Amino acid sequence: MNAAKRSVRNDEPLAYPKFKTHFSEFIGIGANGHLWVDGVDTVELAKKFGTPLYVWSENQLRHNFRRFRDAWEAEYPKVEVLFANKSNNGLAIRHIMNQEGAGGDAFGYNELYFALLAGADPKKTVLNGSNKGDEELELAIANGVCINIDAMDELDRIDRVAKRMGATDVELGIRVKLILNPLKKRFGAAMHGDGSMQEQALSHKWGMTIDETCILVKRIAKMNGLRLTELHYHLSRMGNEARDFAIMAREMIEWTAKVRDRTGFTPEAIDIGGGWTFGRKGGTGPAGADDESAATFEEYAKAVCRAIKEECAKRKLTLPTLKMEPGRSLSGNMGIALGRVGSIKRHPTKTWVNVDMSSNFLPHVNFAHWYFPIVVANRATAKGTDVVDVVGPLCSSDELGVKRKLPKLNRDDLLAFLDAGGYQESVAGRFNAQCMPAAILVSGKNAEVVSERETVGDVMRRFRVPPRLLAKSQAIKSKVSSRY
Ligand SMILES: Cc1ncc(COP(=O)(O)O)c(C=O)c1O
Repeated sequence: MNAAKRSVRNDEPLAYPKFKTHFSEFIGIGANGHLWVDGVDTVELAKKFGTPLYVWSENQLRHNFRRFRDAWEAEYPKVEVLFANKSNNGLAIRHIMNQEGAGGDAFGYNELYFALLAGADPKKTVLNGSNKGDEELELAIANGVCINIDAMDELDRIDRVAKRMGATDVELGIRVKLILNPLKKRFGAAMHGDGSMQEQALSHKWGMTIDETCILVKRIAKMNGLRLTELHYHLSRMGNEARDFAIMAREMIEWTAKVRDRTGFTPEAIDIGGGWTFGRKGGTGPAGADDESAATFEEYAKAVCRAIKEECAKRKLTLPTLKMEPGRSLSGNMGIALGRVGSIKRHPTKTWVNVDMSSNFLPHVNFAHWYFPIVVANRATAKGTDVVDVVGPLCSSDELGVKRKLPKLNRDDLLAFLDAGGYQESVAGRFNAQCMPAAILVSGKNAEVVSERETVGDVMRRFRVPPRLLAKSQAIKSKVSSRY
């Protein structure tokens, strides 16, 4: 079935709210001076559901998806947008993406299982990963999900599992390891260790060389029941300029032509992954670098599609289907994380504002110096006067915002960390035995729980004490208590 036949499109118009100040289309400062998400006051949300709390805007996600899709469709005839499920694994989020017609990128059994459980279209889903297990392959094959091969021995493993299952049409891609010479001296965020973009891209674990790719292509052509459809690459968000992505896309076409010339086979699609960003005044993302200068969806689309078209013309290739796997650019600014101010410690050289949100739940603060803009949700128009460090309750330094200029804060103020919709809940940890916050989905005036707050029982559930240790403790206890 071709992409056009199975395309779902949601044309239901979105009702855009009007705010005094907009932080995104559906998040802004309401008439009462509070931070609102769509038709809901975040101060009321915090009262009702407690803090720390994640809040997602359903309509912001829908808006982001439509704008992303439209930007690429304006430049290119065959586009498939696959939401990177890893950026937000919520089942409700996946349902929204299905309704919008988004495909999906999945890593690992659970992520694929959740996506399928939430009704994702398997024909628009790809499975990525450099060490896939048999169970995972079986799940993908049973559901007709395209598997992007990322190891030389994976093909035989897929073949074995497919044969065992009697599968006759397994769709495959190959994740490639581009060389990216033009990015030799380009530097950005350290997403994959130190070094230039090229050094980072060559040092991470993903992708097959051109020789390996051609060996795989030739082998697949001789195998029954397996069908190669795409080459895959993911540059990641090392930089926020469209030209770097255009360089990558151009090389994908070069590789497609090399594969054709060396094997006689031309893959029908290229999947150029994620890493697309969004910017905001004042900055967001790694080291706050994503400000107004960051490429827009439209700028990415223009630069990348031009490169693909030019390179295809040069190499006499028909335009491949273009797949992308945006994560953060769709889910990032749909979400905020709310934390309540507790004790405030003022020293002559520094002020620390403690909140109940922690780096467990905003894990990117520990990664590439990620910057989350902070808004005082209950006094969102108040001017910044004090420079403070906002810190969480963990026994690490737990810095959520360093040297931030904020209004003079008091206990019980409510702080909102913007752009927390992607990779925060899905990457969250549990240091100091913390319970995961709830997540609330807001749509218009509706606010519904989509992730339950964890209880102490949830945190403890995994722990076991071997009987021999229990017995020893009991013995010691009885000795100690007999002395008193
Ligand atoms: C293969 C792949 N595709 C897509 C993404 C999404 O990236 P982003 O959220 O930066 O768009 C990732 C992120 O890790 C990825 O590994």
